[in-house]
Amino acid sequence: MKVKNICCIGAGYVGGPTMSVIAQKCPEIKVVVVDINQERIDAWNHEDLSQLPVYEPGLDRVVAEARGRNLFFSTDVNSAIEEADMVFISVNTPTKTYGEGKGMAADLKWVELCARQIAEASKSDKIVVEKSTLPVRTAQAVKDILHNTGNGLNFQILSNPEFLAEGTAIPDLEHPDRVLIGGDDTPEGREAIQALVDVYATWVPREKILTTNVWSSELSKLTANAFLAQRVSSINAISELCEATGADVEEVAKAIGTDSRIGSKFLKASVGFGGSCFQKDILNMVYICRNYQLNEVADYWEQVIKMNDHQKVRFAKKIIKNLYNTVSGKKIAFLGWAFKKDTNDTRESAAIYVADYLLSERANICVYDPKVPKEKVYTDLDYLNSRSSEENRKLVNVVNDPYEACKGAHAVAILTEWDEFKILNWEQIHDLMLKPANLFDGRNILNPSEMNRIGFRFNAIGKSDK
Ligand code: UDX
Ligand code: UDX
Repeated sequence: MKVKNICCIGAGYVGGPTMSVIAQKCPEIKVVVVDINQERIDAWNHEDLSQLPVYEPGLDRVVAEARGRNLFFSTDVNSAIEEADMVFISVNTPTKTYGEGKGMAADLKWVELCARQIAEASKSDKIVVEKSTLPVRTAQAVKDILHNTGNGLNFQILSNPEFLAEGTAIPDLEHPDRVLIGGDDTPEGREAIQALVDVYATWVPREKILTTNVWSSELSKLTANAFLAQRVSSINAISELCEATGADVEEVAKAIGTDSRIGSKFLKASVGFGGSCFQKDILNMVYICRNYQLNEVADYWEQVIKMNDHQKVRFAKKIIKNLYNTVSGKKIAFLGWAFKKDTNDTRESAAIYVADYLLSERANICVYDPKVPKEKVYTDLDYLNSRSSEENRKLVNVVNDPYEACKGAHAVAILTEWDEFKILNWEQIHDLMLKPANLFDGRNILNPSEMNRIGFRFNAIGKSDK
């Protein structure tokens, strides 16, 4: 079977870039990305490519090439499903905020809605591909809904987890380490797997396309994110030990990273990991383990989250301690709000939690981030429900200029490793600040001796301060 029409439900950080690259690489396939959010779809269709709803380096180029040719963005979900022979589900699956599994389990409400809508709108057989990260055995639920409500049509369910990282989505999609496709070991299942393998094989070498059963594929996604997050928590744990002992975490990371069994990636100590996936996927895994009464396994992985929470609080506490144990009424500049550089995504960003901690100590915060809009900062803080929305607006200011953010500040904190922060005029920033000028580098992007020379009281992660 050859795929001619693809529909993807969910035009978010994953659905949008992934489908754009598929459309770019496979001009003979028509790809329609649908979303219930009209505003988002309008932004994807915006003539001005700087207005795309997702900021990813290189994405504008890919969209410019494919949009209107074989790539379309629409809110007409039913027509797109009906027309497609392959439907990707790429809607969000946040951690549940209510009821059973609150704070742990994935909320599958949207995935279930998608399955029901696919069943309703379909008039022919379809291959349904789970792109969203899902708890193991979700495919079974999707299958159940489709088979019980889909008027006798044949639906094959595949799991095809996404491994792209935000900020590098386009190169990750163009040159993936691997593509993983899980499906049933039946003749129909194998045929469906092959159809999706053929799509990717247009640009991905065959040996990098791995096929497994559905459960292995679903669990591999959770496991990959758990391992990556674990590395960050591990190096962050060591960063605290370095600060206590006088070792330098970057030297340690370099030394251990040269061991080919360990490898050099994901060893960057930081103020803590964020993003839509790491915490959610680990919590999800922990929840599943508890369900199977695998309590030791659950505790083991939960510790990765605890360590990360600790790292964020530790950073906030360090700021307070260095400001003579009080930040009340003091201006603190935040450089960066996104959870990492080169994205406008702020989900679970460490900045949000550090800010919340300092705001509870009555600090005034002034935020500058090159890509995050003002309103997003406020919605992120309001979402935590720690104080009223009016209070958040009173205590937090968001500006468009880094120097304005730092002017008159008692302390500057770097929360995101944007490249442009490395080349700011730090002498000028020092001049603009109150003295002593405290600088907290939560990403280790600045040179400590240089910052000390300028006159900052400089504090980095995993380096003892003199
Ligand atoms: C993805 C994955 O789906 C998630 O499982 C993974 O862990 C993180 O990445 P992402 O693309 O980042 O999610 O989510 P988001 O940017 O929120 O996009 C989801 C889109 O789906 C939204 O635009 C939302 O409007 C849309 N949606 C949601 C629908 O179109 N229909 C629905 O029923 C629900
Ligand atoms: C992650 C996975 O990498 C990706 O494969 C999966 O599909 C989705 O989840 P993402 O969350 O977009 O991607 O970004 P990633 O680069 O993994 O960074 C996650 C967080 O860890 C960021 O906050 C980042 O700043 C932090 N991090 C990463 C560190 O603090 N140190 C590191 O060494 C690496």
